[in-house]
Amino acid sequence: MSVDGIIVAVDGPAGSGKSSVAREVALRAGLKYVDSGALYRAVTLHTMRTRGKVVEGLDFSSIIDEITLQQRYNDDGTCTTFLNGDDVSEDIRTEQIAANIGIVSDQRVVRDFINNYIRSWAADNSIIIDGRDIGTVVFPDATLKVYLDASVDERTRRRSLEYAEKGKDVDVNSIKSQIILRDTQDEDRQFGALKKANDAHYLDTSNHSREEVVTILCDMINEI
Ligand code: DC
Repeated sequence: MSVDGIIVAVDGPAGSGKSSVAREVALRAGLKYVDSGALYRAVTLHTMRTRGKVVEGLDFSSIIDEITLQQRYNDDGTCTTFLNGDDVSEDIRTEQIAANIGIVSDQRVVRDFINNYIRSWAADNSIIIDGRDIGTVVFPDATLKVYLDASVDERTRRRSLEYAEKGKDVDVNSIKSQIILRDTQDEDRQFGALKKANDAHYLDTSNHSREEVVTILCDMINEI
């Protein structure tokens, strides 16, 4: 396997395990991990901080003009997200951000802004990147495309566990509603909707451990 100049696109719905799988695969396969959702979260955070509320009709062109985004890949497989130079990696992982991200992610100007950043970052690196539209819009010519899926109940269970491990309050019913809402928003989006690319490998992870999914992806990468 040569990892020079390769792009592995991992798409799928919220809570399907994309980021934890992609991080581990990055470590094992010698790729850099890019978390595209974190960039949408950072734009949402900035909008909430500076405009108070995220509502339709905000001037998102001005909002992105105020923003510099950056991601740094770390040796432990994680990536750190910077908003105007500040590390916001923790601040963006809240249910409040998740509840407000739909409108931000619907904006064409925001999507173009983030996609330009990702493409320029990828130009000099071999990456594994997770998101919703990576294999369809951002990198339609990606070396390998994978679509990870899981049932709503399983995704709720994983998200709840993730929050509990971080010591956050867990309301399983509200996490489940949030996941269902986000599925609808992500699938119905006019630009960059969540969709399996025709040439993506589909993998339902409901009955697979993370380790099993990581192994499946590493095997695919070895065959490139
Ligand atoms: O992967 P995540 O849950 O952190 O993503 C948060 C939101 O960001 C997701 O619900 C929709 C948006 N997003 C997007 O529109 N396109 C991407 N490529 C990645 C995320």
